[in-house]
Formats: sequence, C-alpha cells, structure tokens
Amino acid sequence: VSNHQSTERRNREGAIVSVALCGAIGIAVVTASIAGVGQSAAGHPAITEEYGRRLIVETPSLMGPDQPNPEMRLTGSRLACTSCHLDVGARPGTLSLLASAPRYPRFSGRDGGQQDLVARINGCMTRSMNGRELARNSVEMGAMIAYLEHLAETAKATNGARLVVNEPAPFSAPPRAVDFASGANVFGTRCARCHGADGLGMRASEQPANGYVFPPLWGPDSFNNGAGMARVLTAAAFIKAKMPLGDATLTSEEAFDVAGYLNAQPRPAMSGLDADYPDRWTKPIDSPYGPYADPFPLEQHRFGPFGPIEAYHKAHRPPTR
Ligand code: HEC
Ligand code: HEC
Repeated sequence: VSNHQSTERRNREGAIVSVALCGAIGIAVVTASIAGVGQSAAGHPAITEEYGRRLIVETPSLMGPDQPNPEMRLTGSRLACTSCHLDVGARPGTLSLLASAPRYPRFSGRDGGQQDLVARINGCMTRSMNGRELARNSVEMGAMIAYLEHLAETAKATNGARLVVNEPAPFSAPPRAVDFASGANVFGTRCARCHGADGLGMRASEQPANGYVFPPLWGPDSFNNGAGMARVLTAAAFIKAKMPLGDATLTSEEAFDVAGYLNAQPRPAMSGLDADYPDRWTKPIDSPYGPYADPFPLEQHRFGPFGPIEAYHKAHRPPTR
C-alpha cells in the first residue's frame, strides 16, 4: 500500500464520519422539538441542547444588546459565539469546542485558580462578547453547557475521528515586531472583501439584532481588549489556521502582521483588567495590558518582538510556575 492510497482512504473515512455526525445532531434536534421540551411553562426556553446551539449561533438576536427585555441584554457586542468557534464549535482544530466540556475544571492563570466550564464561558461572555456574566443557574448557561457536553459526547462516540484537523502548518511567531504597513496590505487584499474596508463587518440585515454575515474585526461591536483574540499571538494562530475563510493560505509573517494591524485598531475597553493573572508570571507574554512580571514595555507585549521577552521569562521565572 503506497502512502498515496492510505491518505486517500483516511480522507474518505473522515468524510463518512463527518456526515454521520451531522446526522446524529440533526436527529437529536428533531427529537427535542417533537418532544416539546423546547419551552418551559412560562414561555421562556428551557435547558435543551437545541437552545444552547441557538444561543451560540444566534447570540445577538437571543441575548444581544437589542433585546427588548433588558434582562436578556447579556452581550455587549453583536458577534456570535460561532464568529470565532466555527461551525458552532464543531470544526476541528483552532478554537474548536469539540473536546472542551471534559477539559473543565482546570487551572486558569487569568483567574488565579481552578476554573469550571461556567467560568470559562463567562470569560468569553465578558471579553469576547464584551458583555456580562450569565448567572451560574441560568437557563442560558445550562443550555450552552448541555450543547457543549453533547458535542463532546458525539465527538467521542466517533472515536475522535471527527477530531482530524485539516489546517495549514501552525503559526510560528516571526523574530521581529509587527510590520503595520504589511498588515494593512494583507488586510486590504485578503480580508476587506468580507470584513469590510473599514473592518466593521457586514450586517446580516438592516436589523442590528440579527448580527453579522461577516463579523467586525474592531469597533464597538467587536471583542474587547481583555479577550483572547486581542492577544496578537492568539489572533495570528487563529487567522493562520482559519482565515481568509475557506482559503487559509497566509504565511506566518502575514498572519502576524494582519493580527497586529487589527489589534492596533479601536475596540471596547474592559475595566478591572489589572486583577487578571494575580501571579504575573502566568500572564501570557502577548497580553495587551499590564502589569507584567518583566520590565518590557506595553508596546512590545502587544506587537513584539517576543523573542527577548520569552528569553527573559525562561531565565527569571520562578521554577514553581
Ligand atoms: C472573538 C472571538 C471569540 C468569541 C466571539 C467567543 N469566543 Fe470562546 N474563546 C475564544 C478564545 C480566543 C478562546 C481561548 C482558547 C484558548 O485558550 O486557547 C476561547 C475559549 C472558549 C472556551 C474554552 C475552550 C476550551 O476547549 O478550553 C469555551 C467553552 C468558549 N470559548 C465558549 C464560548 C461561548 C459560549 C461564546 C459565546 C457566548 C464564545 N466562546 C465566544 C474566542 C472567542
Ligand atoms: C470569504 C470571507 C472572509 C474573508 C476573505 C476573511 N474572513 Fe474572517 N471571517 C469570515 C466569517 C464568515 C467569520 C465568522 C465565522 C463564521 O461565521 O463561520 C470570520 C471570522 C473572523 C474572525 C473572528 C471573529 C471576529 O469578528 O473577530 C477574525 C479575527 C477574522 N475573521 C479575521 C480575518 C482576517 C485577518 C482575514 C484576512 C486575512 C479574514 N478574516 C478574511 C469571513 C471571512
């Protein structure tokens, strides 16, 4: 058997598995709505996987800032969770949610202790979605967790075959600072046609509540400066792996420069960020806000070069960290 043949077989099996998985999710969804478990007596949706899936896809219309009911104005941006967690989190690879539920609780340097799935989702609510925390016992939190648990169970039931990642070579940080002129050029030639020349995205309809077909990369409806995507290395890794959508062919240099370019643009600011990472040594070197355990300036933490920061951390970080 040549290499070529075995690759082909793997691909074919991968395709069959992913079709089977969609079928399984479809059946679960249909069953839930036939059984009538979608709504509680009061008319508010109940805790179902299907409601959780909808919250992740239709985030702005179900819990965005345009909600008529002020109690349901939970996000501040009009992104959807699926703007970053592609295919409702079911796309394998970077920012996949296929295996997330079983990873929690786990240690979080940002929280300075154990973080459970509720706290992790609330991290995206307050930062990526520029909103507020969902109550631990809310229907919305319960529903999103039910969906994520279902996703992980389904992925596991296929023996992890669904986890086969089809991405270009992973991002590796160039040994230099972001080149903003190059970033602007990449943005104009590779991103603007979807995300808009002004980076503000393209709305799904005239109703802001319906969110975006192409989400904004900066501006008032985007993620805030406390979000993971506001870190240049995190953004570059995502962009290299997934963008331009359907044509992820950027070099690491291009991904780095365009990630720096978009994170140099205005976006909502989060308050209280100096409470993050109580142990400063656990703070990622590309965190775009201080204080830091090292003496490097804010600008270098935001846009590199990262080599010297990394070397300093290797030399000075206390051995227990
Ligand atoms: C602007 C992009 C963005 C948006 C929008 C977003 N997230 Fe995230 N999410 C991230 C990033 C970045 C991470 C961190 C990944 C890491 O730590 O490597 C993350 C991590 C997570 C994790 C933990 C994944 C794991 O396996 O550890 C969960 C769960 C999650 N997000 C759920 C959500 C939910 C639910 C929403 C909507 C309410 C949402 N996210 C919206 C970017 C986003
Ligand atoms: C063909 C259209 C298209 C192109 C071109 C494209 N994107 Fe995207 N991008 C999307 C869509 C659509 C999403 C949301 C994911 C989804 O709905 O599946 C997205 C999501 C994103 C996100 C996360 C969500 C947010 O709003 O922050 C970032 C960051 C991003 N794109 C950056 C880029 C960069 C940088 C480029 C250029 C190198 C680029 N994209 C090119 C369509 C595109």
